[in-house]
Amino acid sequence: MSGTRDLLWDSGHLRLEREEARRLMEEGGAPSPQSSDDPLISLKDLDLRFGDHVVLDGISLDVWSGETVCILGGSGAGKSTILRLILGLIKPNGGQILVRGRDVATASREELLELRKDMGMVFQEAALFDSLTVYDNVAFYLHEHEDLPEEEVARRVDESLRMVDLDPEQVEDLLPAELSGGMKKRVGIARALIHQPSILLYDEPTSGLDPITTRTIDDLVLKLQRELGVTSVVVTHDIRSAFRIGNRVALLFGGEIVFQGTPEEMMESGDGYVREFLH
Ligand SMILES: Nc1ncnc2c1ncn2[C@@H]1O[C@H](COP(=O)(O)OP(=O)(O)O)[C@@H](O)[C@H]1O
Ligand SMILES: [Mg+2]
Repeated sequence: MSGTRDLLWDSGHLRLEREEARRLMEEGGAPSPQSSDDPLISLKDLDLRFGDHVVLDGISLDVWSGETVCILGGSGAGKSTILRLILGLIKPNGGQILVRGRDVATASREELLELRKDMGMVFQEAALFDSLTVYDNVAFYLHEHEDLPEEEVARRVDESLRMVDLDPEQVEDLLPAELSGGMKKRVGIARALIHQPSILLYDEPTSGLDPITTRTIDDLVLKLQRELGVTSVVVTHDIRSAFRIGNRVALLFGGEIVFQGTPEEMMESGDGYVREFLH
């Protein structure tokens, strides 16, 4: 498959892939999103500025338990910033970030650490520690934050690597430089899974990958939703990925969420920004 061909906008094809994904999820008994419960993550009227530069201008978005929400936007739109806000790494200039009903922005340090225990972050470009082996990269959180016997750490590292379809025996002793792009992303995901969070935040999980590897990572994101029942926020500029994996998508443009809805609704939207982004 040529890269150019893969990038061509083919809505009929994408629709089919969505159907496939939905069937896959139904067969696997994935949780149905948007239950009557409160949202697990709720962004309310969020403002964020860096100096005079307005990055987020009153954005609101709800994420329900078990669903995958993709935030689409161009480079510099503020996608990574949203994930940093959810993690409580930066504070907003206005608005609220509720995780399980607790405001991350006003949480005490202890509360924040408690909230973060339930969140796994998959960093852009995997952001692995170059000098650490795959084993030590994946074990990082446990080594830093928990006092477990190494036997238990090893068991959990094995489990996480298998969950991302890597063979522990083959990869544990390798250094990041010895891994392919797709394997690095998998190790980044295994590292985020190690403390068994119920929320996964992905920053551009398929950036820099070829179309075929991108697809295998998309399939992995779907598998984790299905098998672990995790709630995911995925920020990406890749529309094809977003449409494959997102139960809902939100489009970030000019500091605002100019569209949110299902991929089907987005495809059918007559909104000018949406059409421009899709094309
Ligand atoms: N720490 C920071 N200080 C100043 N400006 C920043 C900082 N982090 C991000 N920005 C700016 O905020 C905007 C959004 O950044 P980011 O969230 O990283 O975009 P994206 O992930 O969508 O590419 C960009 O214009 C970026 O230059
Ligand atoms: Mg970014």
